[in-house]
Amino acid sequence: MAPLEKRLAILLDWCRSYRIVADIGSGQGRLARALAHQGHRVLATEKTVSGWQELVQYTKTFEQIDPILGDGLKPLLAMDVAIDVAVVAGMGPRAIERIVQQDSQFRRIPAFIVQPMQGLFRMRRYLKNESWFVRQADLVQEHGKLYGMWWVERNADNGAGLFSEWFPSEFLDSPLYPQLIRSRLAQLNQSLGHHTAQCPMWDDWQRERNALLTTLR
Ligand SMILES: C[S@@+](CC[C@H](N)C(=O)[O-])C[C@H]1O[C@@H](n2cnc3c(N)ncnc32)[C@H](O)[C@@H]1O
Repeated sequence: MAPLEKRLAILLDWCRSYRIVADIGSGQGRLARALAHQGHRVLATEKTVSGWQELVQYTKTFEQIDPILGDGLKPLLAMDVAIDVAVVAGMGPRAIERIVQQDSQFRRIPAFIVQPMQGLFRMRRYLKNESWFVRQADLVQEHGKLYGMWWVERNADNGAGLFSEWFPSEFLDSPLYPQLIRSRLAQLNQSLGHHTAQCPMWDDWQRERNALLTTLR
């Protein structure tokens, strides 16, 4: 197998301590196959019949991988299996939120690893507002784009902590942090420039901008 993309390599590493991993929206199963090599049982899902057939083709020689057809977590929550962690990667933030939300009532999945293709700050706000604890977070740059990823848990064990309010402190150790903050400041300046103080988001944007400016000093 060709070497994994940087973002998938980090997700693979974060799964190391888990036995049963769900890979939601597995595509051609690149991560699922790497997970199987690493010794996990993998429940890999795809939502369309054609996507699932392709996944079956790519994973048919791996007996540790179950390729499953269905929308997000729905087919897995109907099964009698205790999933240790679900990875939801390579989609937009809204699709990821919708999938994570599918387990909000029964809370059967204790940990998620999420990596949106865009909307990094939207994704972060969602996780914070839904009271997830952040175990680890990282940034990678690939094909000229910056991607954020989070490993979150329902409980604050194992050193998982709260999301900070106004700036993404979970990325502070990344060498890409200044780049992330500069691009967010550019977004915020644009929003503030296009709206007036009557906009309901105005005060939040100002507060966020001030907080980000202090972290760059
Ligand atoms: C861009 S691929 C990402 C593949 C892989 N997860 C990765 O990060 O490289 C997104 C995949 O998610 C699948 N997908 C999107 N929404 C889904 C859903 N609700 N349930 C299952 N699969 C979904 C799509 O069919 C597609 O194969």
